[in-house]
Amino acid sequence: MTTLTETPAERRSAGAPPVEAADVHVRLGASPVLRGVDLRVAAGEVVALLGANGSGKSTLVRTLVGVLPPTSGEVRLFGRPLGDGVPWGRVGYVPQRVSAAAGVPSTAEEVVASGLLHGRRLRLPRGWRDRAHEALELVDLADRRRTATQQLSGGQQQRVLIARALVRRPDLLVLDEPVAGVDRPSQEAFAATMARLVADGTTVLVVLHELGELAPLVQRAVVLRHGRVVHDGAPPRPRPGHEEAEHEHVHPHAAPRSERGEGDMGLAEGPFEAGMSTTTDEVAP
Ligand SMILES: Nc1ncnc2c1ncn2[C@@H]1O[C@H](COP(=O)(O)OP(=O)(O)O)[C@@H](O)[C@H]1O
Ligand SMILES: [Mg+2]
Repeated sequence: MTTLTETPAERRSAGAPPVEAADVHVRLGASPVLRGVDLRVAAGEVVALLGANGSGKSTLVRTLVGVLPPTSGEVRLFGRPLGDGVPWGRVGYVPQRVSAAAGVPSTAEEVVASGLLHGRRLRLPRGWRDRAHEALELVDLADRRRTATQQLSGGQQQRVLIARALVRRPDLLVLDEPVAGVDRPSQEAFAATMARLVADGTTVLVVLHELGELAPLVQRAVVLRHGRVVHDGAPPRPRPGHEEAEHEHVHPHAAPRSERGEGDMGLAEGPFEAGMSTTTDEVAP
């Protein structure tokens, strides 16, 4: 991302890790949900965030991408404290759930194109349809681009959200349970897409219930319990007889697909907040 026009501040943060969180505390209502989380994700790493339901995984990723303010502690993305200084165009975020019934039917390409919106300028850049098309190709949904998202399966809707994050061609991709409740073809398409992005050097922080199809890609696991990091290191091995074990066969789609996604998506810069209007669960309290 080095350019001739970068500012001194940008030069200073050029080698900074995509994610740095130091002693992050988050309180929601009366409850302390995160209690002193330290997390650093280096460029090019693929880190899985694991933990039981309610352990604080979603709260942590929402805090990292600036949706929730930390009660105390500090978060930096690419060396810049959360706020306008963060190069948001380099950050893609896929929230945990898709809202079930949006009032206005949006087509898949419209939802994806919302990932191109700048913070305060609600006008799509020229060529948005082509960019949306390319991003939808990455998740194998190009043929459904004019379909209303409500008519898609849950797995396909999730893929639309992933395409919305990818249309920005992010350097850092944060995903919250991207394959939970997702059908098998969507899981495989997702794993193949991730493999290609990782091969391209994308940094990934992904909340997962189980490693599943992504196991071959995950280099490090961070486990939360009651809002604290209780493990940060090697990913857990699949338990014998557990569902994950049967996923250890050959992954036909796990290799980068050279025939795809080679074109430059030429993606816009800008904070992603404007693109988050299709979810209901991402409004900070
Ligand atoms: N808006 C909120 N107000 C109060 N408590 C919340 C809120 N959102 C989540 N929590 C609580 O915070 C804890 C962690 O939630 P969450 O981060 O969603 O966990 P996970 O993603 O690991 O399942 C849970 O106990 C949950 O009930
Ligand atoms: Mg969650």
